[in-house]
Amino acid sequence: MTGPRIVIAPDGEQVGRAGARHIDRLRAAGALRTLGVATGSSPLPLYRALATLWRDGEHREHGDLGEHGDLTAFALDEYVGLPSSHPESYHSVVAREVTGPLRLDPERVHVPCGDTDAPDRAAARYEELIRAAGGIDLQILGIGGNGHIGFNEPGSAPDSRTRVVDLADDTRRANARFFETLDDVPRRAVTQGIGTILDARRLLVIVHGAGKAGLLATAFDGPVTAGFPASILQRHPDVTVMTDPVAADGLAAHHTIEETSG
Ligand code: F6R
Repeated sequence: MTGPRIVIAPDGEQVGRAGARHIDRLRAAGALRTLGVATGSSPLPLYRALATLWRDGEHREHGDLGEHGDLTAFALDEYVGLPSSHPESYHSVVAREVTGPLRLDPERVHVPCGDTDAPDRAAARYEELIRAAGGIDLQILGIGGNGHIGFNEPGSAPDSRTRVVDLADDTRRANARFFETLDDVPRRAVTQGIGTILDARRLLVIVHGAGKAGLLATAFDGPVTAGFPASILQRHPDVTVMTDPVAADGLAAHHTIEETSG
C-alpha cells in the first residue's frame, strides 16, 4: 500500500489554495461528481479559494447556479438537538460556507438530520442516501485534536457506519468557540462512520495551525489504533494531505512530501 501524498504550504490560506486547485483538477478530469465536505475551521480557506477559482473560471451565463450546480455534496456530520436554523448547525454552516459561495444546487447538498426525535433513523437514511448516490468521489477531512475524523471519537470502530455518537469532552471544549457557553455545545451528533469515510474513493485531509502541531506524525507514523481514529487513514489507498509546516512537524522522512507556495 502506498502512503499518503503530503503537500506542505506555508500557511492555512495557501493550504486552502492548493486544496482548491486539487479539487478543480479532479472536477476538470471528470472524476468528481460527489464531494464530501467537512465543517470546522480547517477547510474554510479551501472553500473560499474554490469559490474564487470557480467564479473566475465561469465563462457562460447562468441562472442562479454556477457551473458546478450538478455537483452533489454530503456533509460529514451534524449536531443532534440543535435546530437546523441555528447559525452553528452544520446545515447553516454548509449553506453559508459551501453551497452559497460555490453556487451549488441546495437540492443536491445533503447534511445529516440532527433536528429530529429519531436521529438513529435519520443516520441510517443518510448512509443509504450516500450509497444511492454511488458513494463519495472525494471526501474532505479535518482532524480533531484527539484524532477524531468526522465525529468519530477515540474508540470508534473502524467499520462503523453513519450513526449517532456522544461527543468527547475535549471536542465539546474545542467547539465551544462557536457557541456562547460550553453548555450550549450539543452533546451528541450524527456522523458518517469510519467505514463510511474509508469507502470514499479519494480523501483530502486538511490540517494546519498551531493547535495541530505534530498531529500528522501521530496519524501517519504511529500505530493504527482506535484510540486515535485518524490513524486508520493509513489503510486508505488514495489519501492526499495538505498541511503547513507546524502540523507536518515530526513526519517521518520516508513520506512523499511536496512543497507548494499555494
Ligand atoms: C467537521 C468534523 C470534524 C473537524 C475537526 C477539526 O465536520 O467532522 O472532524 O474536521 O474537529 O476541526 P477544525 O478544522 O475546526 O480544527
